[in-house]
Amino acid sequence: MRALTWQGKRDVRVDEVPDPSIEKPTDAVVRITTTAICGSDLHLYEVMGPFIEQGDVLGHEPMGVVEEVGSEVTELSPGDRVVIPFQISCGHCFMCDQGLQTQCETTQVRDQGMGAALFGYTKLYGEVPGGQAEFLRVPQAQYTHVKVPEGPPDERFVYLSDVLPTAWQAVEYAAIPEGGSVVVLGLGPIGDMACRIALHRGHRVIGVDLVPERLARVRNRGAEVLDLSEHEADLAEAIREMTDGRGPDAVIDAVGMEAHGSPGAQAAQQLTGLLPDAVAGKLMEKAGIDRLHAFHLAIDIVRRGGTISLAGVYGGAADPLPMLTIFDKQIQLRMGQANVKRWVDEIMPLLMDGDPLGVESFATHRLPLDEAPRGYEIFQKKEDGAVKVLLQP
Ligand SMILES: NC(=O)c1ccc[n+]([C@@H]2O[C@H](COP(=O)([O-])OP(=O)(O)OC[C@H]3O[C@@H](n4cnc5c(N)ncnc54)[C@H](O)[C@@H]3O)[C@@H](O)[C@H]2O)c1
Ligand SMILES: [Zn+2]
Ligand SMILES: [Zn+2]
Repeated sequence: MRALTWQGKRDVRVDEVPDPSIEKPTDAVVRITTTAICGSDLHLYEVMGPFIEQGDVLGHEPMGVVEEVGSEVTELSPGDRVVIPFQISCGHCFMCDQGLQTQCETTQVRDQGMGAALFGYTKLYGEVPGGQAEFLRVPQAQYTHVKVPEGPPDERFVYLSDVLPTAWQAVEYAAIPEGGSVVVLGLGPIGDMACRIALHRGHRVIGVDLVPERLARVRNRGAEVLDLSEHEADLAEAIREMTDGRGPDAVIDAVGMEAHGSPGAQAAQQLTGLLPDAVAGKLMEKAGIDRLHAFHLAIDIVRRGGTISLAGVYGGAADPLPMLTIFDKQIQLRMGQANVKRWVDEIMPLLMDGDPLGVESFATHRLPLDEAPRGYEIFQKKEDGAVKVLLQP
């Protein structure tokens, strides 16, 4: 089959790789019809090289049609239309029972000390071949799927794999009081969708980014926006002025480890890119490699006693944090990979009854799988208005 493979920093290619097959009775094989590129893939593209092997298949936002099932997957039949969550979870362990599917005890990557296995996401998360491919082997398929009805186009449902549950969890974790306010840092797909969900719930939303078309998309949905490039020195002050001098009830960080405005850490990330993988990997596991600009902004912006909800992914082990301020302001801090299956039942009605979140017009680009390398490039460089790129194998 054809699949998008990682070859090196900023080098991905579509190659012929072996077709996946049923390896365990709990597997299914899905023929992919639509699959997306995520901001999390950009971390692999740019900084996480030491944890990937050349030739690894990337991608974790797929949907398609069940081709084949293992003997224990009685919940699915060939021909079923399914979205595949980005994490692999069993549905019957202690963690899955609590809606903490990203901590699934059946698929936890214990030799790396990490949570549930993820599709297409480095050795840290199990090195499971990903979904930017014609076919995908789905482990724990009896639970690792979301069945969706025939009829509406793929774009109605594909974001259930990641964008929708991640943005939903970010808003849930933000714990915004009724009629309260939230600042969303970063207006990529995750921040954009988090704004839409918070607006849908009736909150006051202020979005921050530095890419004009991303600001415009969110403004058009009814959010107030601030351009970071016009507020490099006074963003928190400007937001306090807009919020009774106090700051918003909550801040969602939808930026993560590659934030603009962190020159020192950016140099450290580039340096690890020059070291041999074995050395860089060890260093990254022990050092502070995150560009923390957005997180530091969140700490400054949020009101005293408010909540910061981190959706952006961080990866350093020794990141210096202003504990004095976090403690003194009594900030509540919540974070993590999204527990996809936990939120699906709450999101589904918004996809079936009209399209209040605007998912059908959310993608800016639809490319054939063979053009995926260009998709990565325009998404990373924010060229050609790229916000969300869908691939069609
Ligand atoms: N928690 C989860 O389960 C989960 C799931 C998907 C994605 N993510 C993470 O969410 C983050 C966003 O993903 P995305 O797909 O929206 O990608 P993205 O890279 O397109 O979005 C990041 C946005 O942040 C903006 N930005 C950069 N620095 C900023 C700063 N200092 N202040 C404000 N904005 C800034 C960029 O211009 C960009 O628009 C990534 O870190 C990704 O890994 C987490
Ligand atoms: Zn994703
Ligand atoms: Zn489990």
